[in-house]
Amino acid sequence: MPPFFLYDFSLSRASAPAKIMLFGEHFVVYGSPAILGSIDRRIRVSARRIESPIINIRSDSGFFASFATERLEKPGPNFSEAQNVMYPLYSAIYEVIRGHSNGNEGNLGVEININSDIPWGIGLGSSAASCVATIAAVGSLFLEPDRQWIFTRALRAERIIHKCSSGADCYVSTFGGLIYYVRNGKNRKIRSRRDLSLIVVNTGIKHSTKVLVSLVKNFRDENTALFDRLATSATSICEQAVTALTEDNQVKLGQLMSKNHTLLESLGVSNEDIDNIVGFCLDNGAYGAKLTGAGGGGSVIALIPDQCKTEFVSKISKKNSCECIPIRIKSCGLLRY
Ligand code: PMV
Repeated sequence: MPPFFLYDFSLSRASAPAKIMLFGEHFVVYGSPAILGSIDRRIRVSARRIESPIINIRSDSGFFASFATERLEKPGPNFSEAQNVMYPLYSAIYEVIRGHSNGNEGNLGVEININSDIPWGIGLGSSAASCVATIAAVGSLFLEPDRQWIFTRALRAERIIHKCSSGADCYVSTFGGLIYYVRNGKNRKIRSRRDLSLIVVNTGIKHSTKVLVSLVKNFRDENTALFDRLATSATSICEQAVTALTEDNQVKLGQLMSKNHTLLESLGVSNEDIDNIVGFCLDNGAYGAKLTGAGGGGSVIALIPDQCKTEFVSKISKKNSCECIPIRIKSCGLLRY
């Protein structure tokens, strides 16, 4: 680290982790708890100050979008696909620049480069991680932002993508670890005896969190009493899971994951492909399996005994030609460097 007088405020880098939802997705939007963990897949963002009134965002997925800094451009017919995709990041960057340009925004811009090893659209929280890392990198060009500052702005950006976001994804990506999360509540880290490792099975079907969250909203509006009963069960599963995690009781944890999946089926966010994969996991030695994230496709997570993992991965890859991603829950959240 250079001495403070050499600190380079023209370039900064940050990285943020993907996440899995172990318990409580969808119910967390309505105030029930959820348990999430940051995983060993990350998105890396570099930000560089430039002396032109533009914001350029480039990602290794092939998107490049350019925006103005003088005024906030709004999505419309003139927006390219890349501009639509990058709009939430742009609006967050714009807000940071406006807040710290001291009236010099006419001659101030940033260039952003995004590199990611988080598969997109499969329930691993890639959009939250990109918001967190981008805001951290851009914020660091102007000040030394703390995690709360970054989380607040990342959540605002994520709510452009889906306005009911519980905030859980941004929270775990910022703070890292295994988290017991309650919307607007007191969140806490769960101390597990060892790093939990799971297999993510990608169904190959991309999902839209926004669409699935609104599907659950309709379900809740039409079946309020049933939804409340399911939410009570989801809360009880979360509470039992905290104990199972702290005691490293993998058998119990697996049973709770499978129970949680049944609740998500009742909400209508699972489908035949997901249920088949969950069934396959359970028939092939998993302690438990469930969809993770919004559902409708995306991924299944399976808790597999260590000694069965290699055989399991080869079997499921052959049978369902599904991508399997072994992951480990890591305590490391946002990093700036
Ligand atoms: O699939 P993802 O990573 O977008 O997860 C969404 C999780 C939900 O609980 C369905 C929504 C939320 O805001 O918590």
